[in-house]
Amino acid sequence: MVKGKSIGIISIKGGVGKTTSVINLAHVLANDFGKKVVVVDANFSSPNVALHLGAANNKYSIFDLLNGKVKLSDVIHEHEFGFHVLPGGMGNGFNSNANYMKLKEKVNQLKNHYDVVLLDSSPTLNNELLSTIVASDELYVVSTPDLPTLGTTLRAVKLARDKKMNINGLILNKVRSKNYELKSADMERLSGIPLVGVINDNVRVLEALSKVKPATMLNPNSDVSLAYKKIASKMLSLPYGEPKFHTKILGYLKDDFAKLKTHKWSKGLAYYK
Ligand SMILES: Nc1ncnc2c1ncn2[C@@H]1O[C@H](COP(=O)(O)OP(=O)(O)OP(=O)(O)O)[C@@H](O)[C@H]1O
Ligand SMILES: [Mg+2]
Repeated sequence: MVKGKSIGIISIKGGVGKTTSVINLAHVLANDFGKKVVVVDANFSSPNVALHLGAANNKYSIFDLLNGKVKLSDVIHEHEFGFHVLPGGMGNGFNSNANYMKLKEKVNQLKNHYDVVLLDSSPTLNNELLSTIVASDELYVVSTPDLPTLGTTLRAVKLARDKKMNINGLILNKVRSKNYELKSADMERLSGIPLVGVINDNVRVLEALSKVKPATMLNPNSDVSLAYKKIASKMLSLPYGEPKFHTKILGYLKDDFAKLKTHKWSKGLAYYK
């Protein structure tokens, strides 16, 4: 009777874009692909899904669930963006004695109710990250295009393999298309993980964070949003219709216009050089 699948978004490096990927994928899977989605904040010691989504005022957290204090239905938050959230324990809610390995059991229960259970993981190589790895049917690693992060991605591959898991895809994030960056084909070849998406470094992602919204909601046709839609379609083997040329152009212009608003007018046309 199991209906859904659990997908863990991991990296052994902080700040590469795991939480950003989780919330944007949840948003497009729910709103563009009509899937029933729950996001699990499994970054136990530094939970921040709530900071990206503004869902911080919860009575209970994942710790209460893992410690058997409450039921799933007591802790799930129905988010207005179209998906559900199992929040982490912010502030005083942190409990270092929680039984992280119970996560798999809870995720398996969630799979009976949702099409997709998306897990946001901790970047630290400890039981927190391991609990996401073992609770996931599929794993995707987020990396930026530089050597140190590639190194941690290789460690993630090894860690997953030690747990008899395979990493299904590489999400390359914060790409600036500069000569000094590692090329996406090289990242794919050197990591041995199939590349499922390339997401540009885009200030609108930071703007979306400041507005407590996924970037895919702020501008659904930006390069970042289209990249997340493609990744979501690959994750679930769903058809994806590339938007028409003029829709894309309008999406790019909308992002460009936002930059224009913040540039110094005295620079004049130099902005476009
Ligand atoms: N494509 C992008 N372009 C610009 N900024 C981005 C992009 N992706 C993520 N960011 C920004 O990078 C920062 C770190 O992102 P995020 O919190 O998603 O990383 P993380 O891997 O979850 O970090 P941690 O391991 O600490 O939880 C955030 O400020 C986020 O808005
Ligand atoms: Mg995070």
